[in-house]
Amino acid sequence: MKSHLFLFLLISSIFLFSCQENNSNEASNSPNDPHSYSRPGDAVTKHLDLKLKADFTKKVLSGNATYLVEVSAGNKLILDIKGLEIQKVTVDGNAVDYTIGEFDPILGSPLQIPVNTDSKRVTVEYSTTQASSALQWLEPIQTADKTDPFLFTQGQAILTRTWIPCQDSPGIRMTYTAEITCPSHLMAVMSASNPTTIAKTGIYTFEMQQPIPPYLIALAIGKLEFGSIGDQTGVYAEPSMLKKSLYEFGDMQNMLEAAEELYGAYLWDRYDVLVLPPSFPFGGMENPRLTFATPTIIAGDRSLTTLIAHELAHSWSGNLVTNATWDDFWLNEGFTVYFERRIMEKLYGKEYADMLGLIGFQDLKHTIDDLGKTHADTHLHLHLAGRDPDDGMTDIAYEKGANFLKMLELEVGREVFDKFLSEYFRIHKFKTLNTAAFKDYLDANLLIPNELSVNIDEWIDGPGLPANCPPRVSTKFEAVDEVMQAFQAGSLPNATITSNWSPHEWLHFIRHLDNTIPGMELDKLETLYNLAESSNAEIAAAWYQKCIELGHYRHYLPQIEAFLITVGRRKFLTPIYGALKKANNLSAAQEIYKKARKNYHAVSVQTLDALLDFNE
Ligand code: BES
Ligand code: ZN
Repeated sequence: MKSHLFLFLLISSIFLFSCQENNSNEASNSPNDPHSYSRPGDAVTKHLDLKLKADFTKKVLSGNATYLVEVSAGNKLILDIKGLEIQKVTVDGNAVDYTIGEFDPILGSPLQIPVNTDSKRVTVEYSTTQASSALQWLEPIQTADKTDPFLFTQGQAILTRTWIPCQDSPGIRMTYTAEITCPSHLMAVMSASNPTTIAKTGIYTFEMQQPIPPYLIALAIGKLEFGSIGDQTGVYAEPSMLKKSLYEFGDMQNMLEAAEELYGAYLWDRYDVLVLPPSFPFGGMENPRLTFATPTIIAGDRSLTTLIAHELAHSWSGNLVTNATWDDFWLNEGFTVYFERRIMEKLYGKEYADMLGLIGFQDLKHTIDDLGKTHADTHLHLHLAGRDPDDGMTDIAYEKGANFLKMLELEVGREVFDKFLSEYFRIHKFKTLNTAAFKDYLDANLLIPNELSVNIDEWIDGPGLPANCPPRVSTKFEAVDEVMQAFQAGSLPNATITSNWSPHEWLHFIRHLDNTIPGMELDKLETLYNLAESSNAEIAAAWYQKCIELGHYRHYLPQIEAFLITVGRRKFLTPIYGALKKANNLSAAQEIYKKARKNYHAVSVQTLDALLDFNE
């Protein structure tokens, strides 16, 4: 009897303990997101059914969002909204008096809907407006084919609330279904199950069966075609881009399989990539089942597909295991960069991955220099309350985060570390984690069992780069350094050597050109290699930046302008405009920007308006 009681107590306390552990990760218990008004602890959205019509003439999405909700306390459901026109709210079919709270320029407003613990279905009828900054409506001329208009959304970090009223916190997960109506010659695709042909009716239905945070809900509408790569993989692109894209991403199925071998099964069924028009403000966005990608990675030689490995890796780090708030952004991006490089190493070898590591490390050093070694934004764990989360999305999360994991890998050995990561993804799948919960997990599952004592707090809550940051070397770049030294001494790089260079080697070469190199030498390089006309956007952008920095760029202004007018990827825009400004030529930058601005997504516009002192 006694032993039964003991056993019972033991089992129930294990059960209790594990429940508590689980709960501590659950959205409903983590309303501590400074970037959302929602109070999921009181009332939380569990499923979204979205019905929207896209009007390309008015540039408006209108319709309704219906939520299945769970109300456990309080008497209201709070949704985030920004730039939306709310027409009507019903709760279980009955119109209710809702209120819209005060507007905050970063967060928008809380939409407060009266509910009680019996409430089940909440419907919000609404339209988007010009202030719906997630959306970019493109004229035909702004697309690759120039025949039809295009629309795409960008939700991360807090823009989903500008096209769907929602509990816009990464700690809240829900499944969704959607019905999107668009002009009948266009195709709509989402971060969900997708069509592969154009529907004559212009009506598309979607389903995302796995619970995802709102920042991963995404929509694009355009003249799209689908092409298949492997069993589970394929590409959506405008007709003129499809063949090129299918070639460029030919290794995608292999990447997916390499990722699964590393850290466990892919849990999202299909993995497709949508190639967007050039104004897309990012390189890629990991919308589940359908990565959104910039066309600037279509280089013709598969040389920039690391980006696909990165977005694919988010299917584990980010989409399966999600940062609880944007203060924990490094949990998404640091893990993803580490994972991305492991995929690349598996497929293309260590020398290739080492180049990526070293380029990233140099970016990191620049970022730390720019921010200042002691700046709080150089901590992995951020404190972004009161600020735009965009401010915290720097190389720190990506590269310091990846180096932190690399350091742990070196401490315990790859085999142990890989097991730890696989378990981490398995145990936390479809859950949310903040930095404190990660630290606890790390302690219990890696540090204590391996009797490791490392400076975790210094890495996570301290500035700059700790001394035990793993050294980065690249044999390929050492060879480039030799060519560079010869060039600085007056002999041009030999075309038989450079013909084997990847864009990473070119990038390394261009970035490290010395400030003392005379313009004439740069011109010789240009005559030999046509860098300013490079079809590789990374090379062209690095060359423009360098030439501006060296004060030898005026003859390239037409190419620079053409590049800045077509490409909207912020990672290229900020350094080039920034270099012009630094070179005391703000007026040239402003003049180009005036022409280019209408082609940019709101995310890029926000950054550049500030950089270039632009007032409408
Ligand atoms: N999730 C990010 C893009 C993002 C970050 C959007 C923050 C909005 C806010 C995506 O996975 C990413 O990191 N993209 C990188 C490419 C990558 C290879 C480093 C980019 O867009 O350049
Ligand atoms: Zn990423």
